Amino acid sequence: SSTLNNLFFFIFLFLSLSFSLSLFGQSSTPEVEKRSTCDRCDERLFCDCSSRNYRHVPTVTVTEVVTLDLSFNDITTVAEDDLREYTWLRTLDLRSNRIQSIHEWAFHLLQGLESLDLSYNQLAALNPVWFSKLLSLQHLNLLGNCYRTLGPGGTSLTRLRFLRFGNPALEEVRRGDLAGVRQLDQLEVYGNNLKRYDPGSLGDLWPLRVVTLRLRGPFQDNLTLVSSIFHDVSYSETFLVVADVLLSEKTSAAPFSEINRRRVRSILFQNATLTDEAMIHVLEVCHLRWTFLQSAWCCVTKLHILRFYFSSMYIFCMFYYQVMEVFKFTSFLNLGFLLKYLRQISIINCKVYVMPCLTSHLLTQLEYLDLSSNLLTDLTLTESLCHGHGILRNLRVINVSDNALKSLSIVSKLVTRLDKLIHLDISQNAYTSMPPTCSWPQTLTHLNISWAKLQRVTHCLPLTLEILDLGHNDLTAFHSVALPVLRELHLSGNKLRRLPPGWLFPSLEVLLIQSNTLNMFGPMDLQLYRKLRALQAGQNRFVCSCEFVYFMVWRWGGAVEGSVELTDRWDNYLCDSPLPLQGQRVDRVRLSPFQCHRILVVSALCGCVLASGILFVILLWKLHVVWYVRMMWAWLKAKRNSGNQRRRDAAGNAEPLCYDAFVSYSEQDAEWVEEFLVPELENSQPPLSLCLHKRDFLPGHWIIDNIINAMERSRRTLFVLSEHFVHSNWCRYELDFSHFRLFDGDSEAAVLVLLEPISKDDVPKRFCKLRKLMSSRTYLEWPQEDERRAEFWSNLRLAVRGGDELKD
Ligand SMILES: *[C@@H]1O[C@H](CO)[C@@H](O)[C@H](O)[C@H]1NC(C)=O
Ligand SMILES: *[C@@H]1O[C@H](CO)[C@@H](O)[C@H](O)[C@H]1NC(C)=O
Ligand SMILES: *[C@@H]1O[C@H](CO)[C@@H](O)[C@H](O)[C@H]1NC(C)=O
Ligand SMILES: *[C@@H]1O[C@H](CO)[C@@H](O)[C@H](O)[C@H]1NC(C)=O
Repeated sequence: SSTLNNLFFFIFLFLSLSFSLSLFGQSSTPEVEKRSTCDRCDERLFCDCSSRNYRHVPTVTVTEVVTLDLSFNDITTVAEDDLREYTWLRTLDLRSNRIQSIHEWAFHLLQGLESLDLSYNQLAALNPVWFSKLLSLQHLNLLGNCYRTLGPGGTSLTRLRFLRFGNPALEEVRRGDLAGVRQLDQLEVYGNNLKRYDPGSLGDLWPLRVVTLRLRGPFQDNLTLVSSIFHDVSYSETFLVVADVLLSEKTSAAPFSEINRRRVRSILFQNATLTDEAMIHVLEVCHLRWTFLQSAWCCVTKLHILRFYFSSMYIFCMFYYQVMEVFKFTSFLNLGFLLKYLRQISIINCKVYVMPCLTSHLLTQLEYLDLSSNLLTDLTLTESLCHGHGILRNLRVINVSDNALKSLSIVSKLVTRLDKLIHLDISQNAYTSMPPTCSWPQTLTHLNISWAKLQRVTHCLPLTLEILDLGHNDLTAFHSVALPVLRELHLSGNKLRRLPPGWLFPSLEVLLIQSNTLNMFGPMDLQLYRKLRALQAGQNRFVCSCEFVYFMVWRWGGAVEGSVELTDRWDNYLCDSPLPLQGQRVDRVRLSPFQCHRILVVSALCGCVLASGILFVILLWKLHVVWYVRMMWAWLKAKRNSGNQRRRDAAGNAEPLCYDAFVSYSEQDAEWVEEFLVPELENSQPPLSLCLHKRDFLPGHWIIDNIINAMERSRRTLFVLSEHFVHSNWCRYELDFSHFRLFDGDSEAAVLVLLEPISKDDVPKRFCKLRKLMSSRTYLEWPQEDERRAEFWSNLRLAVRGGDELKD
C-alpha cells in the first residue's frame, strides 16, 4: 500500500508540475497587444487621432486615408507593418510622441507622402534608409529630438522644399549630411549648442527663401562657425531670421558682414537680445555696405525695430513683455547716422510715451510710422510730430492705434501739414466726440477711428476719404455727412437702426454694418447706393417680416443676379423677432401665406363665410327647412303630449273627449265651413259637436298647443281640403298631428272632405303626408250639384260618428 501511495504521490507531483509548467509557459509568451482603432476620420479622409494616448500606431475606420494626425500620443516605436494600410497617405504627423525607434522600412510603402513631421520625439539617431523611398516628400520636420548629428548622409529627398532640423543636443553638421537635397525653399536650424560645422554643408541648398537660425552657443563660442553658416545660407533673396541670440560685444557683429557680402536685404531678429553697442555695430556693418550700394534703407526698412533702451537694445519681431528700463532718447541720437535712411519704423507695444521732436527731425526719409499699442497722449504726440510744423514731410502712413489719445481736433491739426499723408490709423483711442469741423491734409484717403466711443459724426470727416473705419463706436445714426469719393465704409459694432442713406456716398462699393441694431433693409435702401458691390450686414436684430424675408431670399437666394453681393455668410443673418422665429436663419425661414397676407386672408375667409351663410339661408328657404324644423318641434311636443295622455289613461282619469270632430280648414274656406258644415252637422239629430279654432280655441294659449289640445280632445279630425288648405301652414300641422293619431292606432281619426277637385298630383311633393293620406284613404267630395248634397251630408255625419268605412 505504501508503494501505491508513493505512486499516487508521484503521479500527483507530475501532474501539478506539468500544470504549473504549462501556466508558466502561458505567461511567458509575449502578450500581443491589440492595435487600437481611431474613428475620428472625416469625409476629406483626414483622421484626427491626436492626443488619444495611443501607444502604437492605431488602425483607422476608413480606407485610403490621406492625412493622419498622430501627434501628442505615447507612441514609442514605429514597427515595420504599422503603416502598411496607409499607402495613400500624403501627410503624417507624429510630432510630440515618445518615438525612440523606427523600423528601417516603416515608411517604405508611403510613396505618396508629402509631409512628415517627426519633431519632438526621442530619436537618438537618424537613419537615411527611412526616407529612401519617400520620393514625393516636400516637408520634413526633425526638430527637437536627441540626435547629435544628422547621421550618414545620402538621402534621396530631391523634392524636399521645407526642412527643419536640430535640437539642443545637435553638435555637428558635416558635409554630405544633406547630400541629395536640392532647391530647398525654407530651412530652420536649431543649433544653439552646435560645436562643429563643415563649411559648405548647407551651401548647396539654393534658393533658400526663408532661413531661420538659432545659433546662440556659436555666437558666444565660435564666430567663425557662425560666419561659415551665414556664408552658406545667404542669397540676395533670402529672408534671414536670426533667433534666440544674445549679442553683447562689438565683435559679435562680425558674422553679419558675411550676410552683407552676400547682399541679403532682409533680416529679422527674433527673441534676440542686443546691447546697444552690438546693435550699432550690426547696423554699421550693414550700413557701410549699403551706403556703398546706395541702398542702405533696404536692410533697415524691413527690420522691425520694436524696442529701444539705453542700456540694452532689443530687436524683436514679436512683442516682448518685459520692460527693462524706461525709454530714453539718447540712443536714438547715437543712431542719427542711420535714422536719416529709415523709411519705416514700427515700435509696437513698447510702452513708448514719446518720440522727441529732435529724433523726428532726423527721420527725414520716414514714410511709415507705426507707434501702435504704446502710451502716447495728445500732449506727447504733439511733441513727437513737432507741433504740427510739418517735420516728417514724407510720412504716408501714421499708425497711433491703441494709445491714449482723446482729441480729434488736436490730431487733425498735427497732421494737417503732412502733405503726403494717405493713411491715418487712430483706432482704439479714447475719442468721445467729433468737433464740428477739422482740417486734414488733402491727400488723406484712409482714416481709421474704430474702437473709440464716438456717438455722432460731423463734418469733421475729410471729404477726400476713400476708406473710413468707424466700426465699434457708439454711433446711433449716420446721416447728413456726405463723402463723395468714399469707397469703403466700416460701421460694424455700432448702434445703427437703419442703413445710412445711400445718396450720401455715391462712390461707395463696400459697406460693413454687422453687429448693429438694424431691423431690416429693403430694395429701396440698396437702390440709393449706386455703386455698392459688397455688403456685410449680419448679426443684426432682424425682424423677419414677410417683406424682409422675401426680399433677402429673392435678392440673394440665387433667383436674381444682382450687383450687390452679401460677403458674410448666411449664418450671420438670424431673425431676432418675432419670437417663434428667433435664432432661425433668414434664408431658411418659411412664412405661411397666412402670416404674410393676414388682412387679405382674413377678408377672404370672412367673405367665404358670409357667402356660404347666405347660400345656406337661401338653401334653407328653398328647401323649406324652417318649416320642417317647426314641424319637427311641434311633432316632438305632440309626441310628449300623447305620452302624457297615455299615462293619464293608465291612471284612469283621462280627460274626456269633448268634441266629435275637430275641423281643420283654411281661412279662405271659413265661409263654407260656417255656412254649410257647422249648421248641417251641429243641427242634425243627434247633434254633433264640432271644434272650430275660431270659436273654441282658448285665447291666450299658444296656437300650436291649442291645435294639439283640440285634436286630442276630438274623436275625429275633419280636413276640409282645398287649394287654400294646401297652402296654409296651420292646416298642414293639423293634418300632421292627426297623422300621429293614425299611427297611434286610431285609424279612423282623419276624415277628408274635398271641397274642390284637386288631384293628388296637385299637392306639392313635400306634403307627402297629405298625399299618402289621399291615396290610402277615400275622401268625401263636395258635390257641385244641389241634389247630391243630402247624400254628402249623411255620409259625412256617418263618417264623423264613426260608422262603416266610407265608400264613394
Ligand atoms: C570653430 O568652428 C570651426 C568650424 O567647425 C572649427 O574648425 C574650429 O575648430 C572651431 N573653433 C573652436 C575654437 O572651437
Ligand atoms: C528665447 O531664447 C531663449 C534663449 O535661447 C530661450 O530659452 C527661449 O526659449 C526663447 N524663447 C522663445 C519664445 O523662443
Ligand atoms: C495699426 O496698428 C494696429 C495695431 O497694431 C493694427 O491692427 C493695424 O493694422 C495697423 N494699421 C496699419 C495701417 O498698419
Ligand atoms: C482699423 O483698426 C482696427 C483696429 O486697429 C483694425 O482691426 C481694422 O482692421 C482697421 N480697419 C481697416 C479698414 O484697416
